[in-house]
Amino acid sequence: MMARTPDIEKAVEVLRTGGLVALPTETVYGLGANAEDPVAVARIFRVKGRPPSHPLIVHIGGAEHLDDWVQEVPATARLLAEHFWPGPLTLVLRRGRRVPLEATGGLETVAVRVPDHPVAQALLSAFGGGVTAPSANRFGSVSPTTADHVRAELGDAVDFVLDGGSCEVGVESTIVDATGDIPSILRPGGVTREDLEAVLKCPITVPSTSQVRVPGQHPSHYAPRARVVLVEPEKVVAEAELAQELGHQVGVFLPPSLTDASVKVHAVVALPASTAAYARGLYGFLRELDQRGCDLIIVSLPTEEGLGLAIANRLRRAAGPRPTV
Ligand code: TXA
Ligand code: MG
Repeated sequence: MMARTPDIEKAVEVLRTGGLVALPTETVYGLGANAEDPVAVARIFRVKGRPPSHPLIVHIGGAEHLDDWVQEVPATARLLAEHFWPGPLTLVLRRGRRVPLEATGGLETVAVRVPDHPVAQALLSAFGGGVTAPSANRFGSVSPTTADHVRAELGDAVDFVLDGGSCEVGVESTIVDATGDIPSILRPGGVTREDLEAVLKCPITVPSTSQVRVPGQHPSHYAPRARVVLVEPEKVVAEAELAQELGHQVGVFLPPSLTDASVKVHAVVALPASTAAYARGLYGFLRELDQRGCDLIIVSLPTEEGLGLAIANRLRRAAGPRPTV
């Protein structure tokens, strides 16, 4: 779906005057600012409630602009950019001078990606510069995959929302540290580990899911209001019904093998059979269960292959301990 040209012109004007534009990408909606405007970049952190040490991704119009934003492009990074851009892959490289430290959380590296969405492409080409954009949600909560999600969550805090329909991929980009000779995955996402390995012709490491928890930090992220509890696949129905009996308003993600089961809980999401459709729907399903008044969501992890790796990563984070307020 193409945004009308006047919308793109308006969005460019907002970016040029230091404002914030919500923009569709193929993964999730981003909250964008002119990457070279430290004041506008600082506003992103305020609106999201995000700690300033958490670096942002710089979105650019094409791989041909990469050298403008980073100091050097190792051969492996060039190879990955050629294969996967435009697309849901973010490369972490050494920061070029053009990128203010405000955007990188003070780091000497910068994350860069070329989104594969006609509206994002139209915006980036009309704007000419880079657009820093985190996902357009409050810090720690579920990422938006429609313009309505953005409006509901951020309202007037955004100066302009570009509506590009529902996001095709539905989970964020895969982040690859490409600063050295041996790349590694920092966050699984829309480009699968298998796709990366096929191009690199070698295995690539993924962060362990049982990372050490630093005291005082809360790993909860991508989280709905309802508490998320992970259970073994064969226990989904029994655990959900038990929690409902104990007085919870339970929402459950029901795997396709169980779709016919009549589960006695408050709300049921029948999961689609393909992992691509699951990824596309994931954040919408979590939002839906919140809206339907669930206080507990029971779910099992998918097999960690293909997009299942990113889905499992988001569900684990959503189920992580919440900050105590
Ligand atoms: O698909 C996506 O990546 C979406 C769309 C809008 O492009 N963006 C997104 O941004 O997910 P955000 O801010 O929600 O997540 C960016 C992630 C953070 O986990 C951050 O720590 C990591 O990128 N990141 C950014 N710069 C980095 C750097 N220099 N080194 C390591 N990680 C970095
Ligand atoms: Mg995010």
